Amino acid sequence: MAETSSLNIPTVDLADLSSNDPAGIERASAAIREAFGVFGLVYLKNHGVDTQALNRYYDAFAEFIARPAEAKKPFGRADIWYQRGWTPPNTEVAVAGNGQPDFKECYFVAPYPNDEQAAMEFPELYPENVWPANPPAFFQDGIMQLGRSLHEAGLKLLRGAALALGLPETVFADFCQRAPHVTRALQYLPLTEAQVNTDIVWGEEHTDFNLLTLLPGGRFLDPSGRAAPGPDNKSGLYLRTRATAEDPKGKMVRGTAPAGCIVAQVGQQLEILTGGTFLATPHVITAPGVSGWQRQSAAHFMHVHTSTVLYPLQKFRTPEAIRNYAPPVLAGTYDIKTLVDIGLAPPSALDKLGYRHYDRLNQQRAKS
Ligand SMILES: [Fe+2]
Repeated sequence: MAETSSLNIPTVDLADLSSNDPAGIERASAAIREAFGVFGLVYLKNHGVDTQALNRYYDAFAEFIARPAEAKKPFGRADIWYQRGWTPPNTEVAVAGNGQPDFKECYFVAPYPNDEQAAMEFPELYPENVWPANPPAFFQDGIMQLGRSLHEAGLKLLRGAALALGLPETVFADFCQRAPHVTRALQYLPLTEAQVNTDIVWGEEHTDFNLLTLLPGGRFLDPSGRAAPGPDNKSGLYLRTRATAEDPKGKMVRGTAPAGCIVAQVGQQLEILTGGTFLATPHVITAPGVSGWQRQSAAHFMHVHTSTVLYPLQKFRTPEAIRNYAPPVLAGTYDIKTLVDIGLAPPSALDKLGYRHYDRLNQQRAKS
């Protein structure tokens, strides 16, 4: 497969999108069409994310991850499908990656209050936040602030994405209102000598199932646990571009943002709504060629509300799009199905979908 380290992935200046200057908005729209149409991701500048605060948060997160597994266990909540709190190592799997579990520990929080009505309908998608006992300093405020600033940047970009497609400017932001957005901190675990240069990767190749993912940038920890530049150029985020006639598998591209920029990635929900005009980015996180190193990163996953119907919007409903994305499905149901597929929810969650009249009838028949 073709591999390249520097393709021309466009950068969008969010200041262009918050201005009312038509030239700036047109510049940003053109960049989004190219970036989301070909690569499925874009770099953002003037994003409003405080990188000093991000590093302070990573220090706090590393302190939590360094605690013994026994101390973290109460915050690993299988009963809420790990949608809040700690995800233990070897829990989540990539569907396309032969089911190999990822080498990572994570922590999920919701940066905004839940929609109470939706929480009654989808309790595992809208649980209350879970916080560790004796959290390290800045553990809570750090991730809550990070999630909110990434979300604000994402809303500006979604306005631009709608304009870029000739849609009403609030169409995607409206789908996002009170949706089950989550911010996640991730720590990729150190490889042993025996695991180095095998087919082990930190995060198997997958596409995100939400609407839009914002990535503020990560950092490496050396074997002593100190933040340091990467040990080699083998590890990091790689993306697969759209398949073409010349490149049926697409190209693998390194996803390193220019200095001062963050990354925004298209997820499956945005691909479905646009009938494939925008493309969910397949991505993989490769491990380094040396033992003992870790990597910390963070992501904010913007979702459409659980009551949204996932189906191409009218404008994109071509016969091909219908073939690819039918049947229409409720976003909350799609979320449940995907969480089962990736190993966070139990398969029995699928048995509960819809109204189970058979169970009631059987109970009634069993009565004497
Ligand atoms: Fe991802």
